[in-house]
Amino acid sequence: ADLRELNSFGISEQAERLVLVEDDSQLRHALDMARQHDWPVTLLGGGSNMVLAGPLPGLVIAMRSRGRRVLARRPGSVVIEGEAGENWHQWVCWSLDHGFHGLENLSLIPGTLGAAPVQNIGAYGVELCDVFDSLDALDRTTGEVQQFERKACRFAYRDSVFKQHPGRFVILRVRLRLSTQPIPRLDYAPLAAAWKSTGLQRPDSRVISQLVCQVRRSKLPDPAELGNAGSFFKNPLVTAECAAALLERWPELPHYPQPDGSVKLAAGWLIEQAGWKGHCQGHVGVHRQQALVLVNYGGARGMEVMALAADIQQDVLSRFGVELEMEPLLVGG
Ligand code: EPU
Repeated sequence: ADLRELNSFGISEQAERLVLVEDDSQLRHALDMARQHDWPVTLLGGGSNMVLAGPLPGLVIAMRSRGRRVLARRPGSVVIEGEAGENWHQWVCWSLDHGFHGLENLSLIPGTLGAAPVQNIGAYGVELCDVFDSLDALDRTTGEVQQFERKACRFAYRDSVFKQHPGRFVILRVRLRLSTQPIPRLDYAPLAAAWKSTGLQRPDSRVISQLVCQVRRSKLPDPAELGNAGSFFKNPLVTAECAAALLERWPELPHYPQPDGSVKLAAGWLIEQAGWKGHCQGHVGVHRQQALVLVNYGGARGMEVMALAADIQQDVLSRFGVELEMEPLLVGG
């Protein structure tokens, strides 16, 4: 089966076998088959955070389980639960329609609910871990379903225990704790400015969601039109000394001091300053509006994407002495 429609980069690669699973028993059946035949297994959510760099032998399992529900209501908050295959943005809209607050800043992120904890998705001042309650995952080494509380997930910036152990855990369903009162998070300056320009006095999570969608559309390419995997690199964390030295030379470098004393730098700025923004190379390129996003102009192979990424990494390292770490997962090849 061709996986082109199943990854947001729009890369065409063959899966030896592909199965779409809709519930836990179909998943177990697929995993049993793979074990019996000794097929390697690759798990797929929305395919929005991966680069396919070669054919996939064995079995590709795409999680397509659906279902969402309100589990518990407490004064001021609710716990909602959804199956792993739920589309992330539809899940956000559903929560807002029910009058629950907390996911509005994470509107329009491509992908599925089950994949969201792997990367600890984040945008505009909010991360998934801020609203996370718990999840159920199948541990493939034991065959048992295990409940993970927030601490056990070891969430960090674009990181979790699930990302650290690729292929080991299959996330089945996720529970989030949301507020029944609006708690606007407007620390991201362009979002705060957009909110101010509405002239609204009372916080309104649905309006914030719409503004987040506008901000995203103005910077990030729609994968349906231009293949991409969102930010291709993480924003690098450097020591305070390193940041100070860089700022002396490049005072306008965007930088965000972290609670642990390290400093996060804007990778997009470094890449743009190095002259890569809008650069094209064969079928791939660097997005014109956001240098942190690599795009597929059509017909790109994973290795082309990786070659462009390596050129950018090397150039940024030699100019600024900063190492850029790839954000999406490299799969196949
Ligand atoms: N910048 C440039 N040139 C560029 C891109 C960015 O100078 O081409 C500068 C901007 O002017 C700004 C700073 O870099 O001062 C940060 O840029 P932006 O606000 O666009 O966000 P980002 O740091 O590039 C991160 C996340 C995004 C998330 C946004 C908004 C990572 C790796 N990326 O991007 O997440 O949407 O912040 O919160 O942390 C993703 O993970 O796929 C993703 C899109």
